[in-house]
Amino acid sequence: MSDLLTLRRPDDWHLHLRDGAAMQAVLPHTAQRFARAVIMPNLKPPVTTTTLAREYRDRIRAAVPQGLRFEPLMTLYLTDNMPTAEIDRAREAGFVVGCKLYPAGATTHSDAGVTDVARIDAVLERMAEVGLVLQVHGEVTHEAVDVFDREQRFIDDVLAPLVARHPTLRVVFEHITTRAAVEFVRGARAGVGATITPQHLLYNRNEIFRGGIRPHYYCLPILKTEDDRHALLEAATSGDPRFFLGTDSAPHARHTKENACGCAGMYSAHAGIELYALAFERAGALARLPAFAADFGADFYGLPRNEDTITLQRRPWTPPASYDFGTDRIVPMFAGESLNWSLVS
Ligand code: NCD
Ligand code: ZN
Ligand code: ZN
Repeated sequence: MSDLLTLRRPDDWHLHLRDGAAMQAVLPHTAQRFARAVIMPNLKPPVTTTTLAREYRDRIRAAVPQGLRFEPLMTLYLTDNMPTAEIDRAREAGFVVGCKLYPAGATTHSDAGVTDVARIDAVLERMAEVGLVLQVHGEVTHEAVDVFDREQRFIDDVLAPLVARHPTLRVVFEHITTRAAVEFVRGARAGVGATITPQHLLYNRNEIFRGGIRPHYYCLPILKTEDDRHALLEAATSGDPRFFLGTDSAPHARHTKENACGCAGMYSAHAGIELYALAFERAGALARLPAFAADFGADFYGLPRNEDTITLQRRPWTPPASYDFGTDRIVPMFAGESLNWSLVS
């Protein structure tokens, strides 16, 4: 087995960068590995307009370290009140690739999200017409629905009807976590894809409770069963172009996770391709990594594939206990644990 793996430079189709000093601290990790990333709009306040997206994009571009090239692909945060004219402004701007649907209350900074998708039907219609992609956090939020069942319920109650109502809208079911989601995407019409995170490929929900409660393994949608993890691995390594890379790297200051009410999100940008290499290699499918990481997402979004490459080497390294996070520290995935693949260049 070769000790070097060279692949087309990948893109991250789902990334949280935050803003200000925190953004400046985490951006180099992504920019060293990925050419482009779809930037999530769940800032406080959220990125709801093309103007806000332009300003946020400018701040990100100004923070890219010298010698690296990185292109942020922007998204708008859908609210109940988004005017359809905003969709036209986004399309004209050129740097907005889609709009993100957060069901209100589903996840971190989603309070301003959509309370009922029926309210945004006109906006979705316009997005389909102009070719913007809908990115979806797919979980229902009713208190009565078990946290582990929220994705599956969302498919039946919201996503399947939405996809049928808007037959030409391109939809990315973000950070899928269940066998049900894999099966839904496989059976869906053309124009429906899904991103898969490294944590959902590497861990099942036992990890949250191994020897005690472990807040750094808490993300949304929450880790699921071993059977779900197998279904995700099978989808990611199958060569099916509807499934592609999206880390959902979601940095939170250490003290906000190690807290009586720890927030949701795992930080993975420091090893954003290495963690997938580990998961794919364990599945005996390393040869399928390049297309999942670098081809299928670009093709889905209708963007050119990158022309340069990155090289990974089989050489163990250990992510540190924490990284700088502006005024705070952040605890990365695999902190203090050995990873088998390193980024060479
Ligand atoms: C994300 C965050 O922290 O912004 N958290 C997470 O657990 N994935 C939000 C999200 O992607 O749902
Ligand atoms: Zn989400
Ligand atoms: Zn996310």
